[in-house]
Amino acid sequence: MTNRYAWMDEEWGRLEKIAQSRQINTVDSVLGERGAWIRVSGRSLLNLSSNNYLGLAHDPRLKAAATEAIEVWGAGATASRFVNGSCSLYTELEQRLADWKQREAALVFANGYQANTGVISALVGRGDAVFSDRLNHASIVDGIVLSRAEHYRYRHNDTEHLEFLLKQHRNARRKLIVTDTVFSMDGDTAPLAELVTLRDRYGALLMVDEAHAGGVLGERGEGLSHELGLHNEVDVIMGTFSKAFGAYGAYICADQSVIRYLTSKARSLIYSTALPPSVIASIHAALTIVQEDTSRRGRLRQMSSWFRKRLNTHPFEVGAGSSPIIPLIIGDNEKALQYSRMLEERGIAAVAIRPPTVPVGTARIRFTVMATHTLSELEWAADQLNQIRADLEGERG
Ligand SMILES: Cc1ncc(COP(=O)(O)O)c(C=O)c1O
Repeated sequence: MTNRYAWMDEEWGRLEKIAQSRQINTVDSVLGERGAWIRVSGRSLLNLSSNNYLGLAHDPRLKAAATEAIEVWGAGATASRFVNGSCSLYTELEQRLADWKQREAALVFANGYQANTGVISALVGRGDAVFSDRLNHASIVDGIVLSRAEHYRYRHNDTEHLEFLLKQHRNARRKLIVTDTVFSMDGDTAPLAELVTLRDRYGALLMVDEAHAGGVLGERGEGLSHELGLHNEVDVIMGTFSKAFGAYGAYICADQSVIRYLTSKARSLIYSTALPPSVIASIHAALTIVQEDTSRRGRLRQMSSWFRKRLNTHPFEVGAGSSPIIPLIIGDNEKALQYSRMLEERGIAAVAIRPPTVPVGTARIRFTVMATHTLSELEWAADQLNQIRADLEGERG
Protein backbone atom coordinates (compact mmCIF):
# COMPACT_ATOMS: atom_id res chain seq x y z
CA MET A 1 0.00 0.00 0.00
CA THR A 2 1.30 3.44 -0.83
CA ASN A 3 1.49 5.95 1.97
CA ARG A 4 -0.74 8.81 0.86
CA TYR A 5 0.85 11.05 3.48
CA ALA A 6 4.50 10.39 2.61
CA TRP A 7 4.92 13.82 1.02
CA MET A 8 3.67 15.46 4.20
CA ASP A 9 6.14 13.48 6.31
CA GLU A 10 8.87 14.47 3.89
CA GLU A 11 8.01 18.16 4.10
CA TRP A 12 7.67 18.01 7.88
CA GLY A 13 11.11 16.32 8.01
CA ARG A 14 12.58 19.14 5.94
CA LEU A 15 11.09 21.75 8.28
CA GLU A 16 12.36 19.84 11.31
CA LYS A 17 15.87 19.76 9.82
CA ILE A 18 16.00 23.54 9.44
CA ALA A 19 14.40 24.07 12.87
CA GLN A 20 11.19 25.43 11.33
CA SER A 21 8.69 22.77 12.37
CA ARG A 22 6.13 23.97 14.89
CA GLN A 23 4.39 22.50 17.86
CA ILE A 24 1.60 23.67 20.13
CA ASN A 25 2.40 23.61 23.83
CA THR A 26 -0.33 22.90 26.36
CA VAL A 27 -0.90 25.37 29.18
CA ASP A 28 -2.41 23.71 32.25
CA SER A 29 -3.70 26.92 33.80
CA VAL A 30 -3.24 30.67 34.16
CA LEU A 31 -2.28 31.66 37.69
CA GLY A 32 -4.25 34.66 38.88
CA GLU A 33 -5.85 37.75 37.40
CA ARG A 34 -2.61 39.45 36.36
CA GLY A 35 -2.05 36.81 33.68
CA ALA A 36 1.68 37.09 34.36
CA TRP A 37 2.20 33.46 35.37
CA ILE A 38 1.11 30.25 33.65
CA ARG A 39 1.45 26.61 34.59
CA VAL A 40 2.98 24.29 31.98
CA SER A 41 3.74 20.61 32.64
CA GLY A 42 3.33 21.19 36.36
CA ARG A 43 5.76 24.16 36.45
CA SER A 44 5.05 27.87 36.92
CA LEU A 45 6.42 30.10 34.17
CA LEU A 46 6.60 33.89 33.94
CA ASN A 47 4.71 34.67 30.76
CA LEU A 48 6.74 36.97 28.54
CA SER A 49 5.09 35.84 25.32
CA SER A 50 1.53 37.07 25.52
CA ASN A 51 -0.12 39.93 23.61
CA ASN A 52 -2.23 40.57 26.72
CA TYR A 53 -0.46 43.93 27.02
CA LEU A 54 -2.83 45.55 29.50
CA GLY A 55 -3.38 42.35 31.47
CA LEU A 56 -7.12 42.37 30.73
CA ALA A 57 -7.65 38.77 29.61
CA HIS A 58 -8.38 37.59 33.15
CA ASP A 59 -9.94 40.79 34.45
CA PRO A 60 -13.09 40.04 36.48
CA ARG A 61 -15.02 42.78 34.64
CA LEU A 62 -14.49 41.09 31.27
CA LYS A 63 -15.38 37.70 32.70
CA ALA A 64 -18.55 39.02 34.36
CA ALA A 65 -19.71 40.73 31.17
CA ALA A 66 -19.21 37.54 29.16
CA THR A 67 -21.02 35.40 31.72
CA GLU A 68 -23.98 37.76 31.85
CA ALA A 69 -24.25 37.82 28.05
CA ILE A 70 -24.25 34.03 27.88
CA GLU A 71 -27.25 34.00 30.21
CA VAL A 72 -29.13 36.47 28.01
CA TRP A 73 -28.00 35.57 24.49
CA GLY A 74 -26.75 31.99 24.72
CA ALA A 75 -23.40 30.49 23.84
CA GLY A 76 -23.17 31.15 20.09
CA ALA A 77 -24.27 33.61 17.42
CA THR A 78 -25.57 30.62 15.39
CA ALA A 79 -25.02 32.20 11.95
CA SER A 80 -23.53 35.05 9.98
CA ARG A 81 -24.96 38.45 10.90
CA PHE A 82 -26.55 38.61 7.46
CA VAL A 83 -28.55 35.45 8.05
CA ASN A 84 -29.68 35.79 11.60
CA GLY A 85 -29.45 39.49 12.29
CA SER A 86 -27.05 40.42 15.03
CA CYS A 87 -27.70 41.03 18.68
CA SER A 88 -27.89 44.63 19.84
CA LEU A 89 -24.52 44.29 21.58
CA TYR A 90 -22.95 44.35 18.11
CA THR A 91 -24.54 47.54 16.87
CA GLU A 92 -23.86 49.27 20.18
CA LEU A 93 -20.21 48.22 19.96
CA GLU A 94 -19.86 49.51 16.40
CA GLN A 95 -21.27 52.88 17.46
CA ARG A 96 -18.88 53.04 20.42
CA LEU A 97 -15.93 52.14 18.17
CA ALA A 98 -16.78 54.84 15.64
CA ASP A 99 -17.05 57.42 18.46
CA TRP A 100 -13.78 56.27 20.03
CA LYS A 101 -11.91 56.46 16.74
CA GLN A 102 -13.71 59.66 15.71
CA ARG A 103 -14.66 58.09 12.39
CA GLU A 104 -18.06 57.90 10.72
CA ALA A 105 -18.61 54.18 11.13
CA ALA A 106 -17.20 50.84 12.26
CA LEU A 107 -17.61 47.19 11.39
CA VAL A 108 -16.76 44.21 13.62
CA PHE A 109 -15.07 41.11 12.18
CA ALA A 110 -14.53 37.70 13.78
CA ASN A 111 -10.77 38.18 14.04
CA GLY A 112 -7.87 40.15 12.60
CA TYR A 113 -7.03 37.51 10.03
CA GLN A 114 -10.54 37.65 8.60
CA ALA A 115 -10.62 41.45 8.74
CA ASN A 116 -7.41 41.80 6.73
CA THR A 117 -8.21 39.10 4.19
CA GLY A 118 -11.83 40.24 3.80
CA VAL A 119 -11.11 43.96 3.53
CA ILE A 120 -8.08 43.80 1.23
CA SER A 121 -9.73 41.35 -1.16
CA ALA A 122 -12.78 43.63 -1.29
CA LEU A 123 -10.81 46.83 -1.88
CA VAL A 124 -8.59 45.58 -4.71
CA GLY A 125 -8.70 42.95 -7.43
CA ARG A 126 -7.16 42.01 -10.77
CA GLY A 127 -5.42 44.95 -12.43
CA ASP A 128 -4.90 46.74 -9.10
CA ALA A 129 -1.69 47.17 -7.13
CA VAL A 130 -1.01 46.76 -3.41
CA PHE A 131 2.09 48.27 -1.85
CA SER A 132 2.84 46.46 1.37
CA ASP A 133 5.65 46.81 3.92
CA ARG A 134 7.92 43.77 3.76
CA LEU A 135 7.36 43.05 7.47
CA ASN A 136 3.56 43.27 7.40
CA HIS A 137 1.58 40.55 9.15
CA ALA A 138 0.84 37.31 7.28
CA SER A 139 -2.91 38.07 7.25
CA ILE A 140 -2.19 41.15 5.12
CA VAL A 141 -0.07 39.09 2.75
CA ASP A 142 -2.81 36.46 2.50
CA GLY A 143 -5.42 39.18 1.85
CA ILE A 144 -3.32 40.46 -1.06
CA VAL A 145 -2.89 36.95 -2.50
CA LEU A 146 -6.63 36.38 -2.19
CA SER A 147 -7.40 39.68 -3.94
CA ARG A 148 -5.42 38.68 -7.08
CA ALA A 149 -4.01 42.23 -7.23
CA GLU A 150 -0.33 42.74 -8.00
CA HIS A 151 1.73 42.64 -4.80
CA TYR A 152 4.64 45.06 -4.41
CA ARG A 153 6.61 44.72 -1.20
CA TYR A 154 8.58 47.77 -0.15
CA ARG A 155 11.59 47.56 2.14
CA HIS A 156 10.64 47.89 5.79
CA ASN A 157 9.57 51.46 6.57
CA ASP A 158 11.44 52.67 3.48
CA THR A 159 9.24 55.38 1.98
CA GLU A 160 11.75 56.10 -0.80
CA HIS A 161 11.44 52.53 -1.99
CA LEU A 162 7.66 52.79 -1.68
CA GLU A 163 7.63 55.94 -3.80
CA PHE A 164 9.84 54.27 -6.40
CA LEU A 165 7.30 51.42 -6.66
CA LEU A 166 4.31 53.78 -6.69
CA LYS A 167 5.88 55.72 -9.56
CA GLN A 168 6.65 52.55 -11.47
CA HIS A 169 3.07 51.29 -11.16
CA ARG A 170 1.20 54.57 -11.19
CA ASN A 171 -1.04 53.32 -14.01
CA ALA A 172 -2.55 50.48 -11.99
CA ARG A 173 -6.35 50.74 -11.86
CA ARG A 174 -6.52 51.13 -8.06
CA LYS A 175 -3.63 51.45 -5.63
CA LEU A 176 -3.62 50.45 -1.98
CA ILE A 177 -0.82 51.13 0.52
CA VAL A 178 -1.04 48.90 3.57
CA THR A 179 1.04 48.74 6.73
CA ASP A 180 1.09 47.52 10.32
CA THR A 181 1.33 50.54 12.60
CA VAL A 182 3.26 48.67 15.31
CA PHE A 183 5.09 45.76 13.67
CA SER A 184 4.13 42.53 15.38
CA MET A 185 7.53 40.83 15.44
CA ASP A 186 9.71 43.93 15.60
CA GLY A 187 7.86 46.36 17.84
CA ASP A 188 8.78 49.44 15.80
CA THR A 189 6.27 51.83 14.18
CA ALA A 190 5.35 52.85 10.64
CA PRO A 191 6.10 56.35 9.22
CA LEU A 192 2.40 57.22 8.90
CA ALA A 193 2.76 60.91 8.01
CA GLU A 194 4.95 60.05 5.02
CA LEU A 195 2.57 57.30 3.97
CA VAL A 196 -0.33 59.79 3.99
CA THR A 197 1.71 62.15 1.78
CA LEU A 198 2.49 59.36 -0.70
CA ARG A 199 -1.13 58.21 -0.64
CA ASP A 200 -2.18 61.72 -1.70
CA ARG A 201 0.60 62.14 -4.23
CA TYR A 202 -0.19 58.91 -6.08
CA GLY A 203 -3.97 58.76 -5.64
CA ALA A 204 -3.89 55.57 -3.57
CA LEU A 205 -5.86 54.35 -0.55
CA LEU A 206 -4.12 53.86 2.80
CA MET A 207 -5.02 51.03 5.17
CA VAL A 208 -3.36 50.54 8.56
CA ASP A 209 -3.37 47.54 10.88
CA GLU A 210 -3.40 48.77 14.48
CA ALA A 211 -3.50 45.25 16.01
CA HIS A 212 -0.57 45.92 18.35
CA ALA A 213 -1.21 49.63 18.83
CA GLY A 214 -4.85 49.49 19.98
CA GLY A 215 -5.07 49.95 23.75
CA VAL A 216 -1.34 50.72 23.85
CA LEU A 217 -0.89 54.03 21.98
CA GLY A 218 -3.03 57.17 21.87
CA GLU A 219 -4.48 59.08 24.81
CA ARG A 220 -7.50 56.78 25.05
CA GLY A 221 -5.75 53.76 23.54
CA GLU A 222 -6.98 54.49 20.01
CA GLY A 223 -3.69 53.55 18.33
CA LEU A 224 -0.79 55.14 16.45
CA SER A 225 -2.92 57.03 13.92
CA HIS A 226 -4.52 58.94 16.82
CA GLU A 227 -1.27 59.42 18.65
CA LEU A 228 0.05 61.16 15.51
CA GLY A 229 -3.21 63.05 14.87
CA LEU A 230 -3.65 61.23 11.53
CA HIS A 231 -6.78 59.19 12.27
CA ASN A 232 -8.83 61.15 9.77
CA GLU A 233 -6.14 60.88 7.10
CA VAL A 234 -6.09 57.10 6.97
CA ASP A 235 -8.73 55.52 4.70
CA VAL A 236 -9.17 52.25 6.57
CA ILE A 237 -8.15 51.64 10.19
CA MET A 238 -8.14 48.00 11.22
CA GLY A 239 -7.61 46.84 14.80
CA THR A 240 -8.05 43.74 16.95
CA PHE A 241 -9.56 42.87 20.31
CA SER A 242 -7.32 39.84 20.75
CA LYS A 243 -4.31 41.63 22.13
CA ALA A 244 -4.43 44.60 24.54
CA PHE A 245 -8.21 44.14 24.86
CA GLY A 246 -7.68 40.62 26.22
CA ALA A 247 -10.69 39.29 24.27
CA TYR A 248 -11.11 38.27 20.62
CA GLY A 249 -12.30 39.80 17.37
CA ALA A 250 -11.41 42.74 15.14
CA TYR A 251 -12.85 45.93 13.65
CA ILE A 252 -12.56 48.37 10.79
CA CYS A 253 -13.18 52.09 11.24
CA ALA A 254 -13.61 54.34 8.21
CA ASP A 255 -15.96 56.70 6.39
CA GLN A 256 -19.55 55.53 5.99
CA SER A 257 -19.07 54.88 2.25
CA VAL A 258 -16.21 52.50 2.95
CA ILE A 259 -18.07 50.64 5.70
CA ARG A 260 -21.23 50.37 3.61
CA TYR A 261 -19.23 49.00 0.68
CA LEU A 262 -17.32 46.49 2.86
CA THR A 263 -20.53 45.31 4.52
CA SER A 264 -21.70 44.12 1.12
CA LYS A 265 -18.35 42.94 -0.22
CA ALA A 266 -16.13 41.46 2.53
CA ARG A 267 -16.58 37.73 2.06
CA SER A 268 -14.94 36.79 5.37
CA LEU A 269 -17.67 38.80 7.09
CA ILE A 270 -20.54 37.55 4.99
CA TYR A 271 -19.71 33.85 4.85
CA SER A 272 -18.67 33.21 8.44
CA THR A 273 -20.56 32.90 11.70
CA ALA A 274 -20.50 36.04 13.86
CA LEU A 275 -18.62 36.18 17.15
CA PRO A 276 -20.55 34.85 20.14
CA PRO A 277 -22.40 37.62 22.03
CA SER A 278 -20.36 36.82 25.16
CA VAL A 279 -17.19 37.85 23.31
CA ILE A 280 -18.81 41.12 22.22
CA ALA A 281 -19.85 41.75 25.83
CA SER A 282 -16.29 41.26 27.08
CA ILE A 283 -15.05 43.63 24.33
CA HIS A 284 -17.51 46.27 25.65
CA ALA A 285 -16.05 45.87 29.14
CA ALA A 286 -12.48 45.99 27.80
CA LEU A 287 -13.22 49.09 25.69
CA THR A 288 -14.37 51.01 28.77
CA ILE A 289 -11.15 50.11 30.58
CA VAL A 290 -8.98 50.86 27.54
CA GLN A 291 -10.59 54.30 27.19
CA GLU A 292 -10.61 55.26 30.87
CA ASP A 293 -7.70 53.56 32.60
CA THR A 294 -4.80 55.65 31.39
CA SER A 295 -2.65 54.57 34.32
CA ARG A 296 -2.58 51.00 33.03
CA ARG A 297 -1.23 52.28 29.70
CA GLY A 298 1.30 54.45 31.54
CA ARG A 299 2.47 51.48 33.56
CA LEU A 300 2.82 49.38 30.40
CA ARG A 301 5.01 52.09 28.86
CA GLN A 302 7.10 52.30 32.02
CA MET A 303 7.60 48.52 32.31
CA SER A 304 8.37 48.12 28.59
CA SER A 305 10.91 50.89 28.52
CA TRP A 306 12.56 49.58 31.71
CA PHE A 307 12.89 46.05 30.29
CA ARG A 308 14.15 47.29 26.94
CA LYS A 309 16.78 49.49 28.60
CA ARG A 310 17.80 46.64 30.85
CA LEU A 311 18.33 44.28 27.90
CA ASN A 312 20.28 47.00 26.12
CA THR A 313 22.79 47.16 28.99
CA HIS A 314 23.97 43.70 27.87
CA PRO A 315 25.49 42.87 24.48
CA PHE A 316 22.19 41.75 23.02
CA GLU A 317 20.77 42.85 19.67
CA VAL A 318 17.43 44.31 20.71
CA GLY A 319 14.94 45.55 18.09
CA ALA A 320 14.36 49.30 17.79
CA GLY A 321 11.11 50.91 18.94
CA SER A 322 9.39 51.69 22.21
CA SER A 323 6.43 49.30 22.22
CA PRO A 324 5.91 46.35 24.61
CA ILE A 325 7.17 44.05 21.82
CA ILE A 326 10.88 43.62 22.50
CA PRO A 327 12.61 41.24 20.07
CA LEU A 328 16.00 39.82 20.93
CA ILE A 329 17.54 39.04 17.56
CA ILE A 330 19.45 35.75 17.63
CA GLY A 331 19.76 34.97 13.89
CA ASP A 332 20.00 31.20 13.75
CA ASN A 333 16.80 29.13 14.15
CA GLU A 334 18.30 26.41 16.30
CA LYS A 335 20.01 28.93 18.55
CA ALA A 336 16.75 30.83 19.05
CA LEU A 337 15.04 27.56 20.03
CA GLN A 338 17.89 26.85 22.44
CA TYR A 339 17.41 30.24 24.12
CA SER A 340 13.69 29.60 24.40
CA ARG A 341 14.23 26.13 25.91
CA MET A 342 16.80 27.42 28.38
CA LEU A 343 14.52 30.27 29.42
CA GLU A 344 11.76 27.76 30.03
CA GLU A 345 14.07 25.61 32.15
CA ARG A 346 14.65 28.71 34.28
CA GLY A 347 10.93 29.46 34.59
CA ILE A 348 10.26 31.89 31.73
CA ALA A 349 7.90 31.41 28.78
CA ALA A 350 9.39 33.32 25.82
CA VAL A 351 8.74 32.06 22.35
CA ALA A 352 11.31 31.65 19.58
CA ILE A 353 10.06 33.25 16.37
CA ARG A 354 11.52 31.79 13.20
CA PRO A 355 11.03 32.07 9.44
CA PRO A 356 8.71 32.31 7.63
CA THR A 357 7.19 34.52 10.36
CA VAL A 358 10.37 36.63 10.23
CA PRO A 359 12.99 36.90 7.44
CA VAL A 360 15.57 34.11 7.18
CA GLY A 361 18.57 34.75 9.44
CA THR A 362 16.63 36.90 11.91
CA ALA A 363 15.17 34.27 14.27
CA ARG A 364 14.48 35.84 17.62
CA ILE A 365 13.04 35.63 21.08
CA ARG A 366 9.98 37.88 21.08
CA PHE A 367 9.50 39.25 24.58
CA THR A 368 6.24 41.01 25.32
CA VAL A 369 5.71 43.04 28.45
CA MET A 370 2.37 43.47 30.24
CA ALA A 371 1.16 46.31 32.46
CA THR A 372 0.64 43.67 35.15
CA HIS A 373 4.26 42.49 35.26
CA THR A 374 6.18 43.74 38.27
CA LEU A 375 9.60 45.31 38.11
CA SER A 376 11.09 42.48 40.18
CA GLU A 377 9.69 39.88 37.76
CA LEU A 378 11.25 41.69 34.80
CA GLU A 379 14.51 42.17 36.66
CA TRP A 380 14.64 38.47 37.45
CA ALA A 381 13.88 37.56 33.82
CA ALA A 382 16.63 39.85 32.52
CA ASP A 383 19.11 38.25 34.95
CA GLN A 384 18.13 34.76 33.81
CA LEU A 385 18.56 35.76 30.20
CA ASN A 386 21.96 37.21 30.84
CA GLN A 387 23.08 34.05 32.59
CA ILE A 388 21.91 31.97 29.64
CA ARG A 389 23.89 34.21 27.32
CA ALA A 390 26.99 33.75 29.48
CA ASP A 391 26.47 29.95 29.52
CA LEU A 392 26.09 29.76 25.75
CA GLU A 393 29.08 31.97 25.09
CA GLY A 394 31.12 29.82 27.48
CA GLU A 395 30.09 26.76 25.45
CA ARG A 396 31.23 28.39 22.24
CA GLY A 397 34.54 29.55 23.73
C1 LIG B 1 -0.44 42.85 12.92
C2 LIG B 1 -1.45 41.77 13.05
N1 LIG B 1 -2.54 41.80 12.25
C3 LIG B 1 -3.48 40.85 12.32
C4 LIG B 1 -3.38 39.81 13.22
C5 LIG B 1 -4.45 38.76 13.23
O1 LIG B 1 -5.32 39.02 14.27
P1 LIG B 1 -6.16 37.82 14.93
O2 LIG B 1 -5.22 37.11 15.85
O3 LIG B 1 -7.27 38.52 15.64
O4 LIG B 1 -6.62 36.95 13.83
C6 LIG B 1 -2.27 39.75 14.09
C7 LIG B 1 -2.08 38.73 15.11
O5 LIG B 1 -2.40 37.66 15.18
C8 LIG B 1 -1.28 40.74 13.98
O6 LIG B 1 -0.19 40.68 14.74
